Amino acid sequence: MAQINKFFNKYYSLKCVNCKKTYETNPWLFSCPKCRGLLDAVIDFSEVEISWNMFRKRPLGVWRYRELLPICSNFTIISLGEGGTPLIRLYRLPKKLNIEFNVFVKFEGCNPTGSFKDRGMTVAISIAKNIGVNKVMVASTGNTAASAAAYAARAGIKCLIYLPKGKVAKGKLAQALLHGAEIVEVEGSFDDALKMVLEEAIKQYTIYPLNSFNPWRLEGQKTLAFELADVLGDAPDVVVVPVGNAGNISAIWKGFRELYELGLISKLPRMIGVQAKGAAPLAKAWSIGLNKPLFIDKPETIATAIRIGKPINWSKALRAVRESNGSFVTVSDEEILLAQKTLAVLEGIAVEPASATTIAALNHIKDYINRDEVVVLVATGHALKDPDVILNKIVRGS
Ligand code: F0G
Repeated sequence: MAQINKFFNKYYSLKCVNCKKTYETNPWLFSCPKCRGLLDAVIDFSEVEISWNMFRKRPLGVWRYRELLPICSNFTIISLGEGGTPLIRLYRLPKKLNIEFNVFVKFEGCNPTGSFKDRGMTVAISIAKNIGVNKVMVASTGNTAASAAAYAARAGIKCLIYLPKGKVAKGKLAQALLHGAEIVEVEGSFDDALKMVLEEAIKQYTIYPLNSFNPWRLEGQKTLAFELADVLGDAPDVVVVPVGNAGNISAIWKGFRELYELGLISKLPRMIGVQAKGAAPLAKAWSIGLNKPLFIDKPETIATAIRIGKPINWSKALRAVRESNGSFVTVSDEEILLAQKTLAVLEGIAVEPASATTIAALNHIKDYINRDEVVVLVATGHALKDPDVILNKIVRGS
C-alpha cells in the first residue's frame, strides 16, 4: 500500500463518519472495515500553512486550493480547467418575489462538461491515473457520466458507465457517448445502477469507482465553498443546494468547516438541501424529525439528475444540515419548471431542472432569512443538458 500511497499529501487520513476510527490514506478504501460507515478524508491542519494571499496568486478554480486537496503537487493532475465559475447577483427575480436579502447564483453549468461534477472528477481521475488503473466506472443520472467520460478521455483511461434506462437527459447521454465511454443501461433507477457499481467495487481492485462514496471525489467538490468565501470575502449566510445522492451538500459543508477551522472565514452558513417532491427521502424524514432517511423504491421527478430514492451519502448530508442549523425543503415539478423559466427570462441564466430546485426553494425559505443576509443558490448544471424539458415542458407547456 505504501507504494500506491505516495502521491497523497502526508497530512491526509481517512475517518469513519460513524465510529470515528481513522485509517491511512488508501485510494481503494470506501467504507469503514469495522462498521461499514462512510469515510471522510481528513486533513491534519497543524501540518498545513496557507493563507488567502497565497491562494490568490493562482487562477480561481479547483487547483487554486491544492494544499487542501489530497494530491502532492509534484504528481500528475488531470485537468480541463474546472471551477472558477461565475457568482452572479440576481436583481429582477428577488424583486419579483419581494425579497430584500442578497441572492447570488453560483453557476456551475460553466464547468468544462457543464456541471459541478467536474470539480470532483479532476481529483478522482487524477488519483485513478496515479494508481495506474486503466479503467474507471460510475453509476449516474447523467452528469457524473458526462464528466467521468470526459476526464477519463483526458487521462487516456477507459470509462464504464451504468445509467438508468430511458431516464437520462439527452445532452448528458450524448456527452458520454461522444467521449467514447462504454454504456450499460440498467432496468430500474439510479439506485439499481449504483448497486451494480458497489457490487463490482468490492469484487475486484481493477476498475476504479468514481461515485460519491469515493471520499476523494468529494474533496474536489468542497472547493465550491472555498470559491464562495474567496470571492465574497467571507462565508455567505445561507447556501441552497439540490440534493440527489447527497454528496455535494456534504462536500460543500466540509469545505466551509475546513475554512472555519483554519481561521479563513469568521462564520458558517446554514445549509439548505432541496429535493423534488417525488424523490425526497431526506426532506421527508427531516420534516418529521427523523434522523435517518425514508428510502423510496420508485423515485420520480422531472429533474432526472436528482431522481434518487436511496442517497448513499445520507448520513453526511444529515450531519451537514443539522450542524449548520439548516433544513431540507421539497419542491414540486411544477415549481421547478416555473423556476427554471423565471430565472432564464428574468436573469439570463439557463440551468437544468435539478438546479432550478434551488430557485423554487426561495419561496419556501424567504421568511427565515434576514434582509442583510447573503444567500447563494448552487446552480449545479447547465440548461443545455436537458433540451427535451425546455422544448416539451417549458416552451410548449407555457
Ligand atoms: N444537480 C445536478 C445537476 C446533478 O447532476 C446532481 C447529481 C445533483 C444536483 C445532486 O448532487 O447527488 O451530490 O446530491 N447527479 C448525479 C449524477 C447523481 O449521476 O450525475 P448529489
